[in-house]
Amino acid sequence: MVASEYRRRRRELMRMMGPDSIAILPTAPLHIRNRDVHFPYRPDSDFYYLTGFPEPEAVCVLIPGRKHAEYILFNRERDPHKEQWDGARAGQEGACEIYDADDSFPIGDLDDILPGMLEQCERVYFAMGCNPDLDKRLPEWINHIRCESRSGSQGPIEIIALDHYLHEMRLFKSRSELKIMRKAARVSSSAHKRVMQACKPGVWEYQLEALFVRECAHQGGKSQAYPPIVGAGPNACTLHYIDNQDQIQDKQMLLIDAGCEYEYYASDITRTYPVNGSFTEPQRQLYELVLAAQLAAIAKVKPGNHWNDPHDAAVRTVTRGLIKLGLLKGTLSKLIKDEKYKTFFPHRTGHWIGMDVHDVGDYKVDGAWRLLEPGMVLTIEPGLYVPAGTKGVAKKWWNIGIRIEDDVLVTKAGNEVLSKDAPKTVDEIEAVMAVTHVG
Ligand code: GLY
Ligand code: MN
Ligand code: MN
Repeated sequence: MVASEYRRRRRELMRMMGPDSIAILPTAPLHIRNRDVHFPYRPDSDFYYLTGFPEPEAVCVLIPGRKHAEYILFNRERDPHKEQWDGARAGQEGACEIYDADDSFPIGDLDDILPGMLEQCERVYFAMGCNPDLDKRLPEWINHIRCESRSGSQGPIEIIALDHYLHEMRLFKSRSELKIMRKAARVSSSAHKRVMQACKPGVWEYQLEALFVRECAHQGGKSQAYPPIVGAGPNACTLHYIDNQDQIQDKQMLLIDAGCEYEYYASDITRTYPVNGSFTEPQRQLYELVLAAQLAAIAKVKPGNHWNDPHDAAVRTVTRGLIKLGLLKGTLSKLIKDEKYKTFFPHRTGHWIGMDVHDVGDYKVDGAWRLLEPGMVLTIEPGLYVPAGTKGVAKKWWNIGIRIEDDVLVTKAGNEVLSKDAPKTVDEIEAVMAVTHVG
């Protein structure tokens, strides 16, 4: 992402904040896996969205209209010894020169410097409950200022949830964000296709997971946006199955829900297919139903429709289809009203997607589903799951779990499916799986 984009975002946020205000945003903490080993570091998305600063132990401070510096970064000092172990640090000079901060201080000086900045402001924009350390320190700083009030300083009188403003900005993707999201979806789509070609009875779920991760990394998608779900047969019926530990058996369906993160933007794609490359009749019937529901939902992704329109369309299609196949009995309207479809389709049809896989942004405004607008990106992912032993359901449907998930951009004209390169129709899947790959 170019520096000017971060600058534009900070400027926009500061314009919304107005004068006499301050925003304080810490990045994510490092998490210890065990003893000296850390989990791979991922900055906080809100922090990164405004700074592009990748290092841990940093706090971004924005003070609109402040003379000397509006954008101040508190970050780690240079330290040749530590840098030999953990890699280069930008330090205070780099914070200004590389990352565009107007001023920068060592993170260890936060307690000394920040209260002086807070003192000048009436309103503090801060996301409470996200960083236990700052949750504790912010009231201490404010109390300290109040204790000094006889010397004339009053300090902040209001703390405002920063998330609301920032998340509304993040909900609408810019041209450069969309370029990255298209790339993330393209990389994951091609990895899905590659896994489809390698899938056959006898391979292990973790082998397909490894192949997916490798294919993404090979194309620059070095991290996964979430742990891949690779489940065959009964495992496909567990919505968030991440053990990926079983050997795949002939005649099973495989569900793979996996997406890379590319330059801090997520993709989230699910494909489901018969492990031997050919659908049995019951597998095909349920698959065609989920696909019809997904296409009906995607058709509802357009400006002016509201958030729940795609879900309503999916529920209608699924319920009608389940009646036709004999899995539900009753009238369409009554079954929908009684939510009987939830036995087989227990989740919603999607979520916002962006820097976080389940991205930020309100789904309702003033109590009503919000309208879809160009620049929003969401997933469309209906599914049907029939675990063995499901009451009143013929055995031929058991152990089939199907989800089909795409990432969809709302455009002026309707929508664009970012993950369209991942094969999806029965014919496409059977054709792709008929091509055998070596290795
Ligand atoms: N991969 C998690 C989800 O589809 O929401
Ligand atoms: Mn999803
Ligand atoms: Mn998913």
